[in-house]
Amino acid sequence: MKLKNGSEVMTVWREGSIVKMIDQRPLPFELKIVDLNNTEELWHSIKDMYTRGAGAIGVTAGFGMAQIALQNANLSPKKLIQKLEEAKEYLDTARPTAVNLMHATERTLNRGKEAAKEGGTDNIIKAVVDEADEIFEEDQRAATKMAEYGGKLIKEGWSILTHCNAGALAFSGLWGTATGPIRWAQQHGKKIFVFVDETRPRCQGARLTAWEMAQEGIDYAIIVDNANSHFIQRGKVDIVFVGSDRIAANGDVCNKIGTLGIALACNHYNVPFYVVAPRMTIDYEMDNGMDVIIEERDEEEVTCMSGMNYEKEERTKIRIAQVNANAKNIAFDVTPAEFVTGIITEFGVLEASREGLAKIKDLPPI
Ligand code: MRU
Repeated sequence: MKLKNGSEVMTVWREGSIVKMIDQRPLPFELKIVDLNNTEELWHSIKDMYTRGAGAIGVTAGFGMAQIALQNANLSPKKLIQKLEEAKEYLDTARPTAVNLMHATERTLNRGKEAAKEGGTDNIIKAVVDEADEIFEEDQRAATKMAEYGGKLIKEGWSILTHCNAGALAFSGLWGTATGPIRWAQQHGKKIFVFVDETRPRCQGARLTAWEMAQEGIDYAIIVDNANSHFIQRGKVDIVFVGSDRIAANGDVCNKIGTLGIALACNHYNVPFYVVAPRMTIDYEMDNGMDVIIEERDEEEVTCMSGMNYEKEERTKIRIAQVNANAKNIAFDVTPAEFVTGIITEFGVLEASREGLAKIKDLPPI
């Protein structure tokens, strides 16, 4: 992503067998880069949300497979494929909802298996690494296209609402998905304003999206999640862009908890509600959104909050509910396709329906 000082930093990248990424947990207070040296560290980086967001999780998982291949050059082809199969099984358990993770481990494993038919260990390593790098590059190319398709829908003077962080931090390049059209509109001289949902419990909106907006000088305000339907009702929101973690074959959209309520309010008050996501996020094997496994996270994310102690200038965690309070921490919800105005992909804006999504299923990658 682009920083205020004009420099650029990637969310995740690979240097040989080392995977490097922004540790998103201390943002926006500290921009920290971490090295992941082995599969356990990589698994934890996804599970514990050093990195998060469907695209970034997928790219990280692909690099994880490349890392395994590069670190096991001494194995026979058969043993290396076994090792990659085990790694896929392990990495897929890090988080259950974003399908980009499983798609990336599957693509790299399958490419390795294909290569094994024709050659030895070196051949497999090259194939797996190439596929992981291709996922990384595809993610960026897709985001550039989506930014333009979505950006053209934004009119001069419009206010946009977005939820969670489907920004550059959630992908590997400069655009992100839901924030891509916003950036594109700003770069094309349109005057815009962004309502940034805080997105409890982990506050990806307040911590990450607001930080991204500030880096690029985009006019924004953080609102608490409970306020979004108010602004939609009062005509303050002209269009909504959200990302997705998994889109079912019928067009149902799984995204960060709170998305469903926004879509319902938009439907009632006639505000366009767009989902911005690459084909990699579509799960053609899943018939409808009610089958998505919704991640349930630690109760403490609800009963406590983390942030900066402004007197001591240090990061801190505080309890906001009584000791031992019970909580339910559901990380995602599913918006039925009928409430989605359109799905913006790298191939264009699609109808959120089985027929709409089928149109791009077999197209070659852009
Ligand atoms: O739990 P997270 O932060 O990994 O959730 C993913 C998200 O950021 C959102 O659901 C996003 O809108 C879709 S992923 C780009």
